[in-house]
Amino acid sequence: MKPTDRVMQSYGRCCASASFFDDFYVNFLASSPMVREKFVQTDMAAQKHLLRAGILNLVLFARGMPDTKLKALGQSHSRSGFDIRPELYDLWLAALLRTVGEHDEAAGKEDLQAWREVLGKGIDVIKSYY
Ligand code: HEM
Repeated sequence: MKPTDRVMQSYGRCCASASFFDDFYVNFLASSPMVREKFVQTDMAAQKHLLRAGILNLVLFARGMPDTKLKALGQSHSRSGFDIRPELYDLWLAALLRTVGEHDEAAGKEDLQAWREVLGKGIDVIKSYY
């Protein structure tokens, strides 16, 4: 199976799990005080909805969609925007993989590797605008 198909199927199972996005933010916020300080003013309920679409945009980019949405994310997260340093994306990806492992019981090693590879492509685009 193609890595992007693996990720789409796994993401479907994750989205069907009611607390997937809550638990992602539990894991992500726990990963560093630098992450927590970025979200002190944030409406986290709204943020969870935005992330649902954000992840989909990363997957669609890896499937060949143009990078328009990721460029916009790159600009909003750049040093003149939310100022998200490139290293913080490693914590983001680690929290995401951990949360996928917790919620998608069918996810094996190859699925987690596919997630890493597929999201990594889009994350590189976002970081390139820092
Ligand atoms: C806002 C997605 C990584 C911090 C947003 C938004 C989206 C999003 C869709 C709202 C739309 C916008 O304003 O552009 C993503 C995706 C990521 C990612 C897909 C991974 C590739 C990160 C990382 C941090 C971060 C690593 C570091 C802490 C923020 C902050 C906001 C935000 C602070 C604004 C929250 C507010 O409105 O108060 N992100 N993000 N993001 N993101 Fe990210």
